[in-house]
Amino acid sequence: MQLLTTISLLDDLCCANCGHAHTAHARQTLSTCCQAPLLCRYNLSEGSISKTDLSTRVASLWRYEELLPVFQPENRVSLGEGFTPLLSLGRLADQYGLHNLSLKDEGLNPTGSFKARGLSLAISKAKENGERACIIPTAGNAGVATAAYCARAGLEAVVVMPRHTPDAFKEECLAYGARLVLVDGLINDCAAKVQELNQNGACFDVSTLKEPYRLEGKKTMGYEIAEQLNWQLPDVIMYPTGGGTGLIGIWKAFREMQQLGWLSADQPLPRMVAVQAQECCPIVTTFEGKQANCKQYIGKPTLANGLAVPRPIGEPLMLNVLRESAGTAIAVSENDMVDGVRELCRHEGIFAAPEGGAIWSATKKLVQQGWILPDEHVLLLNTGSGQKYMDNLKGKW
Ligand SMILES: Cc1ncc(COP(=O)(O)O)c(C=O)c1O
Ligand SMILES: [Zn+2]
Repeated sequence: MQLLTTISLLDDLCCANCGHAHTAHARQTLSTCCQAPLLCRYNLSEGSISKTDLSTRVASLWRYEELLPVFQPENRVSLGEGFTPLLSLGRLADQYGLHNLSLKDEGLNPTGSFKARGLSLAISKAKENGERACIIPTAGNAGVATAAYCARAGLEAVVVMPRHTPDAFKEECLAYGARLVLVDGLINDCAAKVQELNQNGACFDVSTLKEPYRLEGKKTMGYEIAEQLNWQLPDVIMYPTGGGTGLIGIWKAFREMQQLGWLSADQPLPRMVAVQAQECCPIVTTFEGKQANCKQYIGKPTLANGLAVPRPIGEPLMLNVLRESAGTAIAVSENDMVDGVRELCRHEGIFAAPEGGAIWSATKKLVQQGWILPDEHVLLLNTGSGQKYMDNLKGKW
């Protein structure tokens, strides 16, 4: 491919397992060396981009254009994703004796969840690489985002979703013109169906971490958190964890910002907390040493559909983030996550997805256990809006 001048500082793709470099100028899935995720590596050096220049830029994730993998601006497929509000939760904080509690509301993204970030990047790269169709196994939100961004790009979309997913997710995919395939089971069963449907490779498979670019969209949450807090990071970040791209991506952003000199190397990074549902908590189970890894884990459905990921391929990367950040992993019950949604609604006017309810409920538990101290700054990442989950939440108020 001819290399035109580009604003992106992307150099190559690096195997997450062995570090081997792979080209970023061709279709890439898992690394050919280890069948592991590929991570975008940029040519970053201190002072190469000034963080003070950011203030005049577009209010979307594209404000970080040098740190994103799209080479040509005309290939960007955007619906205005990113730069979501970071809200202070004063009333809940007062009620529970916390001094500094905030929430980044990803429910305000196009298609109602943070999945818009990752799929905007993945579909942009699909366009840049000349793909004609994309396929995805999904718990719901990522499928809706794929359908929307493919429609925007003029690509075909095939979305494979568990049959028990709330109807709003299915209807929205159909509205965007996607082909919807329903499967009995969880997202791992949908992934098997994707393999079967895409044996000839006609579609670009945008499964979590099986292509390099969704992670790059998700990492922009980390850049935004730093910028919106004037480069003073919170002490703790609560993240509802399924496939783990957000957790891995936010941590990648913090490391990149250290390389850029946007964060000083001696400034402590937040402790990252992976929150899961008791019905499906493979990362918590491995983190607590109750299994060697998630490869045989059996999960059950949960009201937080996005957390029903029993065998995430990114497990080693997630565990690294938890260890490097001195973080932890915690599971919450179905009742507790609904209580969390209710409290965010009643006290703060935020209708979070059950995944967001789960992180508030987990925060209260960690405060009770003394793992979070009352004067620490805790940031909740509400990953989606509750609006599409009505089938799950009806009558629970
Ligand atoms: C609302 C919501 N929160 C969290 C998740 C889990 O995200 P990740 O795969 O980044 O762990 C999902 C995934 O479907 C989701 O839809
Ligand atoms: Zn490798």
